[in-house]
Amino acid sequence: MPGISKKGLQMPASPIRKLVPYAEEAKKRGTHVIHLNIGQPDIKTPKIALDAVRNHTIEVLAYSMTEGSEQYREKIAAYYSKKHINVTAQDIIVTTGGSEALSFVMGTIMDGDDEIIIPEPFYANYNGFATASGVNVVPIASSIESNFALPPIADFEKLISPKTKAILICNPGNPTGYLYSKEEIKQLANLVKKHNLFLVADEVYREFTYEGREHYSILQESGLEEHAIIVDSVSKRYSMCGARIGCLVSKNKEVIQTAMKFAQARLSPPTFAQIASEAALETPQSYFDEVIKEYVERRNILVSELQKIEGVRIAIPQGAFYCVVELPVSNSDDFAQWLLEKFEVDGSTVMVAPAAGFYATEGLGENQIRIAYVLEKEQLIKAVQILGEALKTYNTK
Ligand SMILES: Cc1ncc(COP(=O)(O)O)c(C=O)c1O
Repeated sequence: MPGISKKGLQMPASPIRKLVPYAEEAKKRGTHVIHLNIGQPDIKTPKIALDAVRNHTIEVLAYSMTEGSEQYREKIAAYYSKKHINVTAQDIIVTTGGSEALSFVMGTIMDGDDEIIIPEPFYANYNGFATASGVNVVPIASSIESNFALPPIADFEKLISPKTKAILICNPGNPTGYLYSKEEIKQLANLVKKHNLFLVADEVYREFTYEGREHYSILQESGLEEHAIIVDSVSKRYSMCGARIGCLVSKNKEVIQTAMKFAQARLSPPTFAQIASEAALETPQSYFDEVIKEYVERRNILVSELQKIEGVRIAIPQGAFYCVVELPVSNSDDFAQWLLEKFEVDGSTVMVAPAAGFYATEGLGENQIRIAYVLEKEQLIKAVQILGEALKTYNTK
């Protein structure tokens, strides 16, 4: 049989999806599975976005411009300007989700064997994009004790080598829920300027910040224009994960020109989804106020319920809709599988994402899980009750 590539063998399986077969088996047995494992919000997509597609009288579903429709990019620039991010349509390439923006970034700024430093735990697919691009992730550990704050700059400096091309952050963080402060962004800005690196920020959760905290974008930082690249997406912002629209934003002209060549190779982003995403930009602030209120309530319930369980430690999220939870188990992979295979309370069990897959350093996160609080409050309460019962049984088995 012809052999597949080394790269293919190295491609990591998603830690979020790898337990899916066990969940499917549980469902076949008639067990109700409460999904805490995946960031698919249950919030309704704004009607304005869906109506724009429903009411469109398109006759030829043509390719759009490679960089995305001019009108849409103008409107995205206007959206950024409301966020105090000063960019033009020419600084934006519309992509097929934030995912494609991430792979364009890696292709644009890195060669095989180059290194990208990423605070861990991080969005697990960064590993996949890095492997696909043949580049190396150099993790820098952040810890649950400090709520996953930015590691000390001196620790970054120790990791910078001639192969280092960029630092990648996710702000607010998936899976940590940590929101970097203006001060932390400034420290990173000074670091990348000092060592002539790119600073890539995945800001797909920009709107989701709690208790009045303000998101500070890397593109708000003056003097960082040549270094900063933003990855963005409509997926979570408007609960439009299936639209598959995101964008790459940079004031660095060479970055945009080069990313355009990658974009040309895939021709264009989806046309209908751009129509929906453009309309979504009209979504009133009241939508976000309500969504954020809902997430804060969910987070508060989740945290207070989890804190009732002995031996559980939780990093309290300040943004996004995930949190990392430390459990009194030695192997959360085994625990998560056992939950699906062997455990239920009144016909229900829970599916969680073992956190080890969000770390690049072997051995880290083995007693942690990630929870996505994208379910209604009653479901969350029930899920945490099941987790509590499960831990008692699991630890005495
Ligand atoms: C941090 C982060 N970045 C990027 C993505 C990719 O999103 P999409 O490709 O749907 O825009 C996700 C999806 O969950 C994410 O959590």
